[in-house]
Amino acid sequence: MPAAICTLLICCKGGERVDAAKQQRAQPDRGTSGVELGAAQIERINEMGYPGPPPPDETNLVADDLRAAQLGHLLFFDAGLSSNGKISCATCHDPDRGFTDGLALNQGLERGRRNTLSVLDAAHMRWFNWDGRFDSLWGQSHGPISHPREMGSSFAQAVEHVRETPVLRERYEQIFGALPAAPAAGLAGETAIANIGKSIAAYERRLVTGPSSFDRWVARWRERGTPRDADSVPPMDFSASALRGLDLFTSRGLCWQCHVGPLLSDGEFHALGAAPRNDLIADGGRFEAVPQLKASPFRAAGVHSANPQGEQGKLVESLVPQPDQWGAFRTPNLRNVALTAPYFHQGQFATLEEVVAFYSTLEGAVTMDHHRESVLRRRDFSPEESADIVAFLRSLTGESPPADWVRDPWQLGPGQSIPMAEVVKPTPVAEAQKSQ
Ligand code: HEC
Ligand code: HEC
Repeated sequence: MPAAICTLLICCKGGERVDAAKQQRAQPDRGTSGVELGAAQIERINEMGYPGPPPPDETNLVADDLRAAQLGHLLFFDAGLSSNGKISCATCHDPDRGFTDGLALNQGLERGRRNTLSVLDAAHMRWFNWDGRFDSLWGQSHGPISHPREMGSSFAQAVEHVRETPVLRERYEQIFGALPAAPAAGLAGETAIANIGKSIAAYERRLVTGPSSFDRWVARWRERGTPRDADSVPPMDFSASALRGLDLFTSRGLCWQCHVGPLLSDGEFHALGAAPRNDLIADGGRFEAVPQLKASPFRAAGVHSANPQGEQGKLVESLVPQPDQWGAFRTPNLRNVALTAPYFHQGQFATLEEVVAFYSTLEGAVTMDHHRESVLRRRDFSPEESADIVAFLRSLTGESPPADWVRDPWQLGPGQSIPMAEVVKPTPVAEAQKSQ
């Protein structure tokens, strides 16, 4: 192997650059990628490592309650929450497709206007949906239940379904106390819907993926204190091509300007100007979402929140609609991105190759005059560079969450039944919720 292509600049803990040649004398490098990582890149890559468990959610007292997660698991797979009894959350968030549907635009009772986001690792985000219309995972859940094009139900119907399904009712009442009288309406009905949402969120918080091949590579070089492309040879499955892609991603490709941190997302909103798809018109995105969020009773600062005065609540109260939010969408989490085609808010791109071609050429991009992100300029990637970036994106697929949480809990083997809730004393959670 020619020594010339083995150059890899190695960074000390203090961020100081050390000549690779010196290091190679001490310990010959077996790498073949020819990648040289600068100190700033190494810092960025270090911040992109595996995130660990999702941050706590102070707005949801049952966020990490196992019983709530079990109830949420049943609800997530329950088509009884829809008006025609045929559509569950899992219809669009199919575990076999990375908790998405594989469609450009979602299909519920009618064809929708947005691409389905994955629920995998969603618990790490701060704003939910493409436009951040919700500011908590539990606050998001009522949206699809009552959306006329998605599940088309009403709050009263959804609560009725829980009341009429013994295993759901028992489990609900064990955690939250008695369901409101039928028909569930007003504040009591909303509280029940919020509790259903909080249980579903407790379930979704279990849908976090394990480390990807990229994470294992990062973990290994953190242990050694130095990134070496020799670390990508077997048994490591982070390829030389993925390493070159990572190099571009964190340097000239400028992807790191928005896709940063362990989720590879800044969690913020940007208007990239991808042209609308088919017969759809341009989507206002964040601009339309901010007023909706501020008015929602299910917001983090609202009456159903367990901590309306907390950080997340304050954040929403200070949001102001701005013209530059028009057409802006949340930077997607890129973990597991290889599982969730098609891409962009209207499913504009069928493959990762097409996404990278968009960034490379900006072909078909709509100019949004002064709203247009100045950072988006043509990258002119070569075919090899594009392939390397795609290889890197493919290295971000993590291990599936535990099989017990991924399967449909209503599909039972012969002789199996869903256990009723254990009879236990009301917990502080139930008491706290009831007194709200
Ligand atoms: C008809 C298809 C469909 C159904 C049914 C559906 N979803 Fe979704 N889901 C979507 C689409 C589309 C989006 C993106 C919506 C948007 O940005 O406006 C989404 C977004 C989400 C998100 C946000 C993820 C993120 O990263 O921000 C969560 C969480 C979620 N759905 C959970 C659920 C739950 C829970 C249910 C059942 C109560 C459900 N969905 C039912 C299609 C669906
Ligand atoms: C200015 C911020 C910004 C920069 C820079 C940026 N992205 Fe994005 N990225 C976004 C936003 C916002 C979206 C969603 C856009 C939409 O739906 O209209 C997105 C979408 C994506 C998607 C699709 C994900 C999905 O689930 O649909 C991929 C893949 C992606 N970007 C990769 C990259 C790569 C690779 C680069 C560098 C070449 C890059 N991005 C540069 C903000 C950015």
